[in-house]
Amino acid sequence: MTTLTKTEDKPAPTGPEAFLSVRDLRVAFSTEDGVVRAVDGLSFDIERGKTLGIVGESGSGKSVTNLTVLGLHNRKTTDIQGEIILDGQELTTASEKEMEKIRGNKAAMIFQDPLTALSPYYTVGRQLSEPFMKHRGASKKEAKDRAIEMLAKVGIPQPQTRFDDYPHQFSGGMRQRAMIAMSLMCDPELLIADEPTTALDVTVQAQILDLLRDLQQEFGSAIIFITHDLGVIANMADDLLVMYAGRAVERGSVREVLSEPKHPYTWGLLSSMPRLGGDTSEALVPIPGTPPSLLNPPTGCRFHPRCRFRDEVPGDLCSTERPLLADGRAAACHLTGEQKQSIFIDQIKPRLG
Ligand SMILES: Nc1ncnc2c1ncn2[C@@H]1O[C@H](COP(=O)(O)OP(=O)(O)O)[C@@H](O)[C@H]1O
Ligand SMILES: [Mg+2]
Repeated sequence: MTTLTKTEDKPAPTGPEAFLSVRDLRVAFSTEDGVVRAVDGLSFDIERGKTLGIVGESGSGKSVTNLTVLGLHNRKTTDIQGEIILDGQELTTASEKEMEKIRGNKAAMIFQDPLTALSPYYTVGRQLSEPFMKHRGASKKEAKDRAIEMLAKVGIPQPQTRFDDYPHQFSGGMRQRAMIAMSLMCDPELLIADEPTTALDVTVQAQILDLLRDLQQEFGSAIIFITHDLGVIANMADDLLVMYAGRAVERGSVREVLSEPKHPYTWGLLSSMPRLGGDTSEALVPIPGTPPSLLNPPTGCRFHPRCRFRDEVPGDLCSTERPLLADGRAAACHLTGEQKQSIFIDQIKPRLG
């Protein structure tokens, strides 16, 4: 994982450079109830050809982060601070027109809910073809051929006839696949997949994951993969970012984070998720309490009200001071490195099996 500091004008010409670099991102929504600080000081990098997995409970800011990267927020009610640099271009200050050029072409998103991306008023075929014609200058015929090819690739039967259907004529699973086909039409260099396969059966899921790997192989695309499925993460991702209440709490290679997690929240998360290849009926241990309100989040470490280990930290550091996430392999927690290691080995590892 590389870091692009603000003082560097250009990344070094040799060695890997970040394709997407997010720096101290803050996203706040004005609502009737007050300001919702959905993302609060988030930084991460992703290189070309790499996959970054993002995990975290529902409401931790995963979708907001990624919608913001693609400029899909409401510009009137959303306040954005920080930097989002995609292939050298700053996106937080980009115009809607510039973002339209990027979306669906250089960067694309697979949404959790296909109806977010598909319009009910146009045929599936038209919705796949138009961006391809617009961004690639393709003819109608070329775009149609490409769309049919992509529909076939995501496992839609009779793609030639299905091309002329409207989204409501598709089943839920087929809509999901059509939306995935749409996101892949222009071979995006950055693909954001937000719980892309949750609603699909295992065979189709495997097919889709293969497609994403192909895209990456062929075009060196960077992929951000948001999922609750640790099996998928372990298979697909190189690096892993764990988010809690709008912040990153842990980061490292997937192997490091899954085999030796360092943050109490990650410990809780792993204990509450089905084990890799394990029996899904096994009793899981939920994290006590609920995620905090982002209207009025806890001070200090946002996880401290739910943390079983805060008494191990001297004073009231956990409730007063935000623990920062260091570069590289790191956890944002006031426990010392030794404490993290011994708690993990004595209390957590035995339960993870
Ligand atoms: N447009 C919005 N206005 C107000 N609050 C929002 C808006 N979009 C998301 N939020 C809030 O931001 C937080 C993070 O949401 P989200 O990124 O969707 O979480 P997740 O990690 O489950 O994808 C949640 O508390 C959500 O309710
Ligand atoms: Mg989400």
